[in-house]
Amino acid sequence: MNTHNTDLAQELERGKTGLIHDPREGDTSKITLVKAKGSLVWDDKGREYLDCTSQAWSNSLGANDDRVVEAAIAQLRDITHARPNFNTIPLLQLTARLQKLSPGDLNRIGYCLHGSLAVEMALKLAFKNRPGAQNVIVMQDSYHGRSLVTMAASWPHPTNPFAALQPRCFTRVPHPDSYRPRMGMDLETETQLCLSLLEDTITKGVDGSVAALIIEPILGNGGHIMVGKSYLQGLREICTKHGIILIFDEIQSCFGRTGAMFAADYYDVVPDIMTFGKGISGGFPLAGIMASDRLEGFASGEDALTFGQFPVSMAAAVATIDAIIADDLCGKARALGDYATQRLHEMSDRRKLIGDIRGPGLFVSIELVKDRTTKAPSPRAAAEVYRRGVEKGVLFGESRYAGLGNLIKVKPPLDCSHAQMAHALDVLDEVLGSIEADGIA
Ligand SMILES: Cc1ncc(COP(=O)(O)O)c(C=O)c1O
Repeated sequence: MNTHNTDLAQELERGKTGLIHDPREGDTSKITLVKAKGSLVWDDKGREYLDCTSQAWSNSLGANDDRVVEAAIAQLRDITHARPNFNTIPLLQLTARLQKLSPGDLNRIGYCLHGSLAVEMALKLAFKNRPGAQNVIVMQDSYHGRSLVTMAASWPHPTNPFAALQPRCFTRVPHPDSYRPRMGMDLETETQLCLSLLEDTITKGVDGSVAALIIEPILGNGGHIMVGKSYLQGLREICTKHGIILIFDEIQSCFGRTGAMFAADYYDVVPDIMTFGKGISGGFPLAGIMASDRLEGFASGEDALTFGQFPVSMAAAVATIDAIIADDLCGKARALGDYATQRLHEMSDRRKLIGDIRGPGLFVSIELVKDRTTKAPSPRAAAEVYRRGVEKGVLFGESRYAGLGNLIKVKPPLDCSHAQMAHALDVLDEVLGSIEADGIA
């Protein structure tokens, strides 16, 4: 698109002033994207960027993959929209594909278009199967979306203006954190402490019974916090013991991002319900749940959204899943992730801002700290990495959790080339060096 055309350029500038999600005093330099291919995106000035965010970790396959685009176009020609009272071919095909891939007995699949609504669907199913229960347990640093319910299920919002509209059923519990274990504990000791506190919470910390416990197997937006296999196994045991439905929110970790198809596979722990989204559909909106055969499904009218089974997204998802398997993107994510984390470890010998390096697969990030001993976060350095990265044509992911984000995420599409990853890391190294030289911490 040529935005040098003056009329269009003026219209775009006018449009920027009308966006309600974009406060006027905010970032006026927000990039306008006009094109994407693979790991690259281009803005309206013709500038090229290497996208280490995969657009919110969604373009796992790489943007505008020809197989996905063709499948979507073919579907557009056949039928664009069908309300949920009808089946369509891609709906049934996708469901059959997902049943083959799903961990354990998670063979009942439901769909919607947004991760937040997938989480709500999972919670509805849990309450349906736990009649009379009144509580849901969530992690202190979890993120489950921005709908009213999922904001309440996420980390505390210091200036939350929506409290009056939100349910009060969520209780946040502490979770282990491999980088910042409490009081000098080792991870296993902290894990056992957190599991013990969880059981206390279930039995003594809430009124009434608990319907569900929901957790991201790796806490994504809350800071790439690795709670670890032992904690997830412990959750499985406690939930089974108390008849609580264990939900894994895999919207960010699904379809190869961790180097396994799902984090449930990576950790070898099967929940009762799992959400998916983002990377499933090659850039088209789609999310949903996979639920255990043991659970009762929804009755008519309990869960239906007009566009919830959008055939174009379904066709794109079938093509995306086929491509992820054909191209062995799980294997590629493991290999490229190993290379990235190894380079980051080398970098951390020179760049003292790097406090910790996280994986697995291409769930890659670094924590920037003012001081490695105190581990005090450096959100200023993270903001500078982002800004200087943009200037050098690389988009790094940041975390702005409660305004304190000090995480830099390097999460390009899973089919990002070795040369592209090497370039992103070269730029990161250079940018960190310049930030240190400027004395920013
Ligand atoms: C783990 C997790 N759950 C839920 C969501 C919400 O998804 P959406 O933005 O599609 O509603 C996100 C989005 O970042 C997420 O990372």
